[in-house]
Amino acid sequence: MLFDTMDRPLRDIRISVTDRCNFRCTYCMPREVFGKDYVFLPREDLLTFEEIERVVRIFAGLGTEKVRLTGGEPLLRRGIEDLVGKLSVIDGINDLALTTNGSLLAKKAPALAAAGLDRVTVSLDSLDDTVFRIMSDVDFPVARVLEAIDAAAAAGLTPVKVNAVVQRDINGDQVVDMAKAFRGTGHIVRFIEYMDVGTSNGWRMDDVVPAREIVAAINERWPIEPLPGAHPGEVANRWRYLDGAGEIGVIASVTEPFCGDCSRLRLSSEGRMFTCLFATGGTDLRGPLRSGASDDEITELITAMWERREDRYSEERSGIPLGLPKVEMSYIGG
Ligand code: GTP
Ligand code: 5AD
Ligand code: SF4
Ligand code: SF4
Repeated sequence: MLFDTMDRPLRDIRISVTDRCNFRCTYCMPREVFGKDYVFLPREDLLTFEEIERVVRIFAGLGTEKVRLTGGEPLLRRGIEDLVGKLSVIDGINDLALTTNGSLLAKKAPALAAAGLDRVTVSLDSLDDTVFRIMSDVDFPVARVLEAIDAAAAAGLTPVKVNAVVQRDINGDQVVDMAKAFRGTGHIVRFIEYMDVGTSNGWRMDDVVPAREIVAAINERWPIEPLPGAHPGEVANRWRYLDGAGEIGVIASVTEPFCGDCSRLRLSSEGRMFTCLFATGGTDLRGPLRSGASDDEITELITAMWERREDRYSEERSGIPLGLPKVEMSYIGG
């Protein structure tokens, strides 16, 4: 295993396979910024599946165990199941997951499962069709996302996790409804504090509903108790219903940051490595990959970067000089 300056291992790699998305969630890809003139990465700039496969093999050799495919919307990348097939057979990778908005998932779930994907996480912020459409800013019915969640579970991509970003004045009053809808289904809803990631979403602290408030609202309706973490470096705090109806999670990145055991590296779709979600710059991997670097040379590059790593943005929340653009979530992956 590789360790950084704070003794955190490189256990988890999150790979964005495209910077495009067919949704325009206002907190992630607001239309004013990601409008029809927005220039996405050209195809030739994206890492190929063969390049990603090679990189993951190298990471696995360095001790990485978890891989998450993200975007943008990863199911927009043509042939994504072929990439899953290549990654699922790599020795040492024992958890292969994918984060999706669910719009294309019902169709793709069987092929993804057959290719060896272990599980999916579906982003879903509200069950109310009107609020859902306001937040995702597209003409897509929430009912189809719910169908996709069931299709994923039926295909064996379990446990299905449902990620809801909570914004006080938008869906802040719907936490209990969300919990209710998924109690007893085996799916795990995770409520996420709205984060100041990127520069385009106009984040304000007032929009954040603190995790303790979310937990209190649910506990009042159905008593819950904390569960121990399922794996080291887990971002969610887990809670179980005392009546046995399953579990929920809360991700308190703003009010209770978890940088102390952050073992995640992010790889953008054009092959830049970022050691923090809030990074302003990354390390290019595509250049070396395309100019004939050996596995040893690539290993050296990754090792040097990780061993220098000092990031703990959410704990400092002041580290970034004003005016330096932070990377967008849709580019770096959630
Ligand atoms: P599991 O492996 O299923 O526990 O999923 P995960 O921990 O990888 O969580 P997921 O990818 O679903 O991430 C959920 C959300 O947590 C993301 O969308 C982010 O909002 C937030 N998050 C994930 N990783 C980080 C991180 O490293 N830093 C911060 N600040 N937030 C993160
Ligand atoms: N704060 C918290 N979570 C976010 N996501 C995107 N933008 C934000 C933000 N500003 C999450 C989405 C999705 C994943 C891709 O990232 O909910 O689950
Ligand atoms: Fe797309 Fe997910 Fe961002 Fe929404 S949160 S715009 S679905 S990448
Ligand atoms: Fe990791 Fe950076 Fe998130 Fe802290 S803010 S948990 S260091 S990605």
